[in-house]
Amino acid sequence: MLKKVQKLIADVEVFKTTSRDEIEAFRIKYLGSKGLLKELFNEFKTVDASMKKDVGQALNNLRNTTSTKVQELNDSLENAQEIKNFYGDLTRPSEPIELGSRHPISIVRNRIIEVFSKIGFTVSEGPEIEDDWHNFTALNLPEYHPARDMQDTFFIEKDPDLLLRTHTSSVQVRYMENNEPPIRTISPGRVFRNEDISSRSHCIFHQVEGLYIDTDVSFADLKQTLLYFTKEMFGKSKIRLRPSYFPFTEPSAEVDIYWGLETEIDYKITKGTGWLEIMGCGMVDPNVLKNANIDPEKYTGYAFGMGIERIAMLLYQIPDIRMFYENDVRFLEQFKSII
Ligand code: DAH
Repeated sequence: MLKKVQKLIADVEVFKTTSRDEIEAFRIKYLGSKGLLKELFNEFKTVDASMKKDVGQALNNLRNTTSTKVQELNDSLENAQEIKNFYGDLTRPSEPIELGSRHPISIVRNRIIEVFSKIGFTVSEGPEIEDDWHNFTALNLPEYHPARDMQDTFFIEKDPDLLLRTHTSSVQVRYMENNEPPIRTISPGRVFRNEDISSRSHCIFHQVEGLYIDTDVSFADLKQTLLYFTKEMFGKSKIRLRPSYFPFTEPSAEVDIYWGLETEIDYKITKGTGWLEIMGCGMVDPNVLKNANIDPEKYTGYAFGMGIERIAMLLYQIPDIRMFYENDVRFLEQFKSII
């Protein structure tokens, strides 16, 4: 009898079905009032005393295994039914779609593009891996020019000379090489500098370059454009130009906007002066025009360049530049409602 019971246990263990009727038939066959277990327990009375312990244990095992099996089969049937009901119901409301958010760098970049496109600037791009000519030489920075020290460069290869561009001014040159004036373009992009990473500076960041070339372009045009930009972008209409030096512009200036002292909490933003530097600019040096095959006797132009991170930090009061690159969703989710 022990063998018979063990065989039944094995049968029960492998039994499978997805039909409710079959589960019920299975249950009746084993556990019903006239079922196999009933029969076996009757037969048990006649078992030899020496075998009673083993057979008794096996019978209990068979009863437990069978009722667990019935329970399991019923549960999985119910689950399957629930899933079917859920997905089969075409009137059910759809799952909520998680709202995505744009990266603050994209938001600011798009806004800058929007502001300049209103006054006729197109968007242009250039390669991140540049050659010496476009990043330096054509921009009036010859090989041993001391101004090259202003930027710590990631050099890739000596021959052919390749490097990671240190500024988007390289796109100016490419654009002038491939387009005739009048030129009105802005070039947003990623740039690379071999700098120590801190809360204010990073080795990878973003810039927007601007270039305007036509006949009779003057410094006054540059100033008006900058004024328009700062009004649109920051809602501030007081700017000042401080004389400065860039090899690719002459004269050159740095642009400060009057930010005021209201937001000056820790004296880090404007160092207590109210003024904030936001970009470099100037009249394109005639040498740069010549290098890009534009006649400096006929054409003049202005250029400017600014850092996107810096502007985003200002606009959203972001205290540390590293937050842009950490991809922490708790940071990124805060820009959800901004398109
Ligand atoms: N290329 C400069 C930099 O990376 C920024 C700049 C300054 C661009 C003056 C210009 C300019 O076009 O006229 O710091």
